[in-house]
Amino acid sequence: GGTVEEAVAAFSAGKPVLVHDFDDREGETDLVYPAGAVRPADVARMRNDAGGLVCVALSDSVAETFGLPFLAGEIDHPAAGDHDLAYDDRSSFSLPVNHRDTFTGITDEDRALTIRELSGAASAAVQGPGTYSAADFAEEFRSPGHVHLLRGAPNLLADREGHTELGLALAQRAELPPAVVVCEMLDDESGAALSPADAAAYAHRHGLVYLEGERLIDAIR
Ligand code: 5RP
Ligand code: ZN
Ligand code: CA
Ligand code: ZN
Repeated sequence: GGTVEEAVAAFSAGKPVLVHDFDDREGETDLVYPAGAVRPADVARMRNDAGGLVCVALSDSVAETFGLPFLAGEIDHPAAGDHDLAYDDRSSFSLPVNHRDTFTGITDEDRALTIRELSGAASAAVQGPGTYSAADFAEEFRSPGHVHLLRGAPNLLADREGHTELGLALAQRAELPPAVVVCEMLDDESGAALSPADAAAYAHRHGLVYLEGERLIDAIR
């Protein structure tokens, strides 16, 4: 696997990084991009080569500014009554959104637009208090939509060790806006999570960095 420095350098250059969480957690490798760098071809890579769910993780403070709740707390249905996950205390899902300038919202062009505009909005929100509001967010985006938002834990990896926080920690180290895209790498044959060895081989074939989440955890200790 690569080093945290290599991953941060790749991220700073707008390149994706493959991030494996932990064998005792999901045991998944996500393809992770800084949201501001995502073009339609990158959405195509996520759905063709990764195959998981395309999500944008936002920092807790940006999600707060946007007025974005955790979805689990908002769904008024018994299916949302018991949040028993096998691998963590809670999910980080917030609302799914489309940028209002999209048509259906699912095409590569549409999702890339939504993703890039989310980065722009996050970048505006971190400029300072009052620069961007929940009303501004609602004017720019509609929900439901086709890009799933994730809300990061306030103290990132000190609070939770999901891809949500691993991705946001990378953005923080690269001094990029707290908006990152994550998409699980699945095995085309078995449909299971792509193995770490296969994910590292994919990274090598494509000149990308494969990073063990443990390395990021070590870096904050
Ligand atoms: C959304 C997910 C993924 O696992 C994604 O990596 C974010 O979740 P987490 O922070 O729990 O790893 O479930 O597709
Ligand atoms: Zn998951
Ligand atoms: Ca595929
Ligand atoms: Zn994950």
